[in-house]
Amino acid sequence: MKKLLILILVSQISIIYSYSQNEKKANISVDFSRNNQAISPLIFGQFVEYLGRCIDGGMYDENSALSDKNGFRKDVLLKVQELQTPLLRFPGGTVVKIYHWQDGIGPKTNRPKRKNLIWGGVNDNHFGTAEFIEYCREIGAEPFLVVNMATATPEEASNWVEYCNGTGDTYWANLRRQHGYEKPFNVKYWGIGNEEYAATDIGRDQNVEKYIEDSWMFVKLMKLQDTSIKLTLVGNSIDLKWSERVLQEMHPVCDFLSIHLYSIPSNSGYSTLLSSIDAFNTDFDAMRTLLEATPQKAENFSSWYRFPPRQAPVKLAIDEWGIWDMNSGKGRGDYQMEYTYNWGHALAVGKFLNLFQRNADLIGLATWAQTVNVLAPIMTSRDSSFKQTVFTTLKAYRQNTLANNLEITVKTSGSNDWNKNIDVVASTSDNRNELVISALNLSAQEAIELNIDLKNLPEGKHIQSIQLSSFEAPSIDSVNDFGKECVTETISTIKAKSEEPVHIQLMPATINFVRFKLQ
Ligand code: AHR
Repeated sequence: MKKLLILILVSQISIIYSYSQNEKKANISVDFSRNNQAISPLIFGQFVEYLGRCIDGGMYDENSALSDKNGFRKDVLLKVQELQTPLLRFPGGTVVKIYHWQDGIGPKTNRPKRKNLIWGGVNDNHFGTAEFIEYCREIGAEPFLVVNMATATPEEASNWVEYCNGTGDTYWANLRRQHGYEKPFNVKYWGIGNEEYAATDIGRDQNVEKYIEDSWMFVKLMKLQDTSIKLTLVGNSIDLKWSERVLQEMHPVCDFLSIHLYSIPSNSGYSTLLSSIDAFNTDFDAMRTLLEATPQKAENFSSWYRFPPRQAPVKLAIDEWGIWDMNSGKGRGDYQMEYTYNWGHALAVGKFLNLFQRNADLIGLATWAQTVNVLAPIMTSRDSSFKQTVFTTLKAYRQNTLANNLEITVKTSGSNDWNKNIDVVASTSDNRNELVISALNLSAQEAIELNIDLKNLPEGKHIQSIQLSSFEAPSIDSVNDFGKECVTETISTIKAKSEEPVHIQLMPATINFVRFKLQ
């Protein structure tokens, strides 16, 4: 095999580019005249639930020397801040079906302790609504609250809206003030139940017609409290009849339709993991058909509802997604939901996010399940914490993805099976001064030569600079642990001319961002 080694020295970083005649190639054509769709920044949300050590013993620990005056674990908070999440969903998940928000307000000593009938343990409710809002403020995220439809009433949900958002001289708004919060919390995003179809849960509905009947009552009472709130209704990407009926009947008030996408590989093999994410293409295709059949905005909505109907197209809320490796037998803790994610999982998260980006026109928001300890990017012990491999992917995509998805064409030189190793998307800034190619080389063994051809650059613009950020670990089995991180990031600058394709070598098992500045 003929090999040519080129040593490039760029601002103290040395990179060895190795080209071989057998090297696999991927040619990317980025044509600025092609369609682009806005990527909602809310696709980078996170989810927290009263489940195992996610909240208590994870993000919140009043008795820890590591916590601040609010009881927030400072080491964890710093890491959550680093994740730069724009949206935080709370308090569940399945647990909402037994959760009464009034238990978590006011002086902590008066708050009732309740058995967590869903996930086990006891919830002392010391982390309640105000603490959640404080946490959102600390991390700069919009709060997203989910209401209990199973054992609570529409009136209870409506009171929660008043407690959070009320500005008048009325009971629940005044109670919030009495609790020390003069200004409203302004919670914009609300979920009407969670997985209400799930037969094994204690849900009251579990039948789409009942869900429609019940959710109308919740929606009406909540919207009458605050007409500006945005609502997520329960959908299902497997039971399409459920989603179709919800859209048919609820579309005038449904801003987002929730679907949950967990990769649950049937074994612990890397290729099984990747295929489990490919399978979600079918879910997106099905949801696209349903959303395209839904009116773009609600018409002929009676003014007697006393609140305005939806004005923008219904979008998906993928308000739980992630990797739930339940068949690996490696989960720890209650319900075996504490996993150590390896570098293969981190690459798989990139595949997930590329899939989201390709379907950006459909997705309004998404929240990774969950945040600390449970299916999580951050793990804790009593005196320490660490970032899992998947943390790298979540953070890197949040830092590098620009405002709009630009459709691209990818041509590869390998067999169909091999071609799956390259997974690429492109995004551009609104003013088209920047372009980012997010490229995964999913092959654990082989490098890929990526050739990027820019076509129809916006009028008068040319390449000013190109930067490559590449994330890699020693192997796809590599894991992080307390005091040990396996991932390294290399940043390099590349010289190129606007008229010529850019050649970049993607090392095996890497997450890469090629950032073009245009002038
Ligand atoms: O994230 C764990 C659980 O998964 C959530 O409580 C539930 O909504 C989903 O089934």
